[in-house]
Amino acid sequence: MQKKTILITGINGEIGHSLVEEISKNSSNYIIGVDLQPIQESIKKHCTATFVGDITSEEIIKELSSYDINEIYHLAALLSTTAEKKPQLAHQVNAGGTFQLLEMARSIGKRISQPVKFIFPSTIAIYGIPTPEEKYAANKVSEEQFLLPRTIYGASKLYCENLGKYFTEYYMQLSETKEHGYVDFRAVRFPGLISAFTVPSGGTSDYGPEMLHYAAQNKPYACFVHAGAQLPFMAMPDAVDALLNLAAAEKSSLRRHSYNVTSFAPTAQDFATMIRNAYPSAVITFEPQVKRQTIVESWPADLDDSMAAADWAWKPKYSFEKAFAEYLLPNILRRYLQ
Ligand code: SER
Repeated sequence: MQKKTILITGINGEIGHSLVEEISKNSSNYIIGVDLQPIQESIKKHCTATFVGDITSEEIIKELSSYDINEIYHLAALLSTTAEKKPQLAHQVNAGGTFQLLEMARSIGKRISQPVKFIFPSTIAIYGIPTPEEKYAANKVSEEQFLLPRTIYGASKLYCENLGKYFTEYYMQLSETKEHGYVDFRAVRFPGLISAFTVPSGGTSDYGPEMLHYAAQNKPYACFVHAGAQLPFMAMPDAVDALLNLAAAEKSSLRRHSYNVTSFAPTAQDFATMIRNAYPSAVITFEPQVKRQTIVESWPADLDDSMAAADWAWKPKYSFEKAFAEYLLPNILRRYLQ
């Protein structure tokens, strides 16, 4: 099979970390990595080329444009809590950066006469449910419901989903020449993600992974949402599989550009119970921070991912119990022993 050139932005981040391992395990494709911070050595060894810089800068885009890129995993973004503190920067990076990369993908696609696949992690934050009562009454939310994001993070991700569709289907539709179709945009709307190897930073679903990683290090944890708060979550290997499987799906089988994916939907109390089973001396308290909790309460309690299951055979490997027993606890034990 012909080698592909794959660009990963935000490669040092939580998803980038696991994605690069998985891509290099299963193929000998060329990987180009970009991050704002110096690329970590454990990641660099898998890459053909790496760049340190801001994806909104023209220099970086110019450098990247010289490669015949076939697939882009655009992971670079500010997460919801950080974005709420710096809305202007969040807009610039999350919306402006994505526009730049889509433009770049379009011009590469035109040059190589082949659509560039643009794989995008979207989020539960694109949903905004007016009240907790409606959230818990709705339970599993499907793709067209409650598209009223309340955060700059959610608003910019929803805009980027629309941009992706625009580049794929309509770009410069009034032009004499055909300009659309050089990008093949596909997005997964992720729930909260939980990894054994990394801890997220700046997200609002971070209480799940933080609670576990604090307990593993014997540190007390004050959870910033109330015990009954519920969100969908997914173990990192499933998140990476979702991106790769959506990228590999036949275009003709895809009825949408953006799909919900999820695995389990625990309450914060369910997390605490599971963690205390593994670490009986864990000190976990609930000290809700009203503002962050309000954001969590506007996100779905669970997601309906039946469209992804039907169109590209999406199926998570890890249930809540299995994620702890087979992925999180064994790897975390090794990680903190080192
Ligand atoms: N994990 C993200 C956040 O908390 C939501 O997708 O910002």
